[in-house]
Amino acid sequence: MDETEPEVNTSIQMERPALDAKKFAPSTGAALDKPQPCPPAASESRWPLSPARPELARDEIHAWCAVLDELASDLPAFAETLSAGERQRAERFQFDRDRKRFIVRHGLLRMILGRYLNIEPARLSFTCESRGKPALAGTLDGRTLHFNLSHSDGLALFAVARRFALGVDVERIRPIPEIDQIAGKFFSARESAMLKALPAEQKLEAFFNCWTRKEAYLKATGEGIADALAQIEVSLVPGPTAQLLNIAGDAREASSWSLHPLAPAPGFTGAVAVKARDSKLACWRWPEKFPAAGTIR
Ligand SMILES: CC(C)(COP(=O)(O)OP(=O)(O)OC[C@H]1O[C@@H](n2cnc3c(N)ncnc32)[C@H](O)[C@@H]1OP(=O)(O)O)[C@@H](O)C(=O)NCCC(=O)NCCS
Repeated sequence: MDETEPEVNTSIQMERPALDAKKFAPSTGAALDKPQPCPPAASESRWPLSPARPELARDEIHAWCAVLDELASDLPAFAETLSAGERQRAERFQFDRDRKRFIVRHGLLRMILGRYLNIEPARLSFTCESRGKPALAGTLDGRTLHFNLSHSDGLALFAVARRFALGVDVERIRPIPEIDQIAGKFFSARESAMLKALPAEQKLEAFFNCWTRKEAYLKATGEGIADALAQIEVSLVPGPTAQLLNIAGDAREASSWSLHPLAPAPGFTGAVAVKARDSKLACWRWPEKFPAAGTIR
């Protein structure tokens, strides 16, 4: 994200393992030659607007969603907070829309973290773990935050916690022509069977529930999705709860994690995986417009 930015801009070059990005476009704006669906309006999200200073308790997770294109008119204010490394990353995007979304997303990340830490967004610096997971750098007076972010089709999702490692993923629910073949490749036998047994109208949502829950876990560990998707077993049936069932066949290890399903806006599904048996979740929506000067840090 800044000085330790990896050479490769994963947002535009990373393909999911063995998936044809054109057929199953990840959240990275693949298949840009095709008409893109309209992102939702922030007002369509049912998550409440955040208070000016949300309190993050020690056992809490806060999830934030934002519609990036609605904030693009405030691009200079977001860009101002970025490091030289982040600006260079932004410049590497081929398409203007993706560049703007990157700037807003990373500016927002800084603003959100800055609110909790009471630090100016531009003063934060980041480091990367070995497989690219970003983390806050420096001591920050002994305080730190765990965080992770995800984006799909213009919707960004952020998750923040004081004590727990976490990972977040969001996807727009969209048609997948070869749904059973893709599930056969990346889901466990039990997950594929659960998916096949569902009525047609629940299948797509269940597919993306499964995908985002696995990915949220693999982002929480920092491992990424390259090799391990099929080893993580999760519940997938649409509904208000989610469960991590097995990690490489180990149900005991899975039970030391919690998984929260997220529905940030109509047509999107996501999840946050938390390294804690119990964790409380609060969800916030970033305002449509950049808050007036003085109301944010
Ligand atoms: C992390 C990963 C799952 C994200 O895939 P995605 O669905 O396309 O992207 P999402 O929108 O959900 O998440 C992207 C964000 O996750 C974060 N991220 C990047 N790598 C991460 C990792 N290993 N673990 C957790 N989070 C990660 C970043 O904040 C990134 O945002 P940015 O691109 O704006 O900086 C995928 O890129 C991956 O598997 N990476 C690991 C690759 C690897 O092994 N690299 C080794 C050399 S760096």
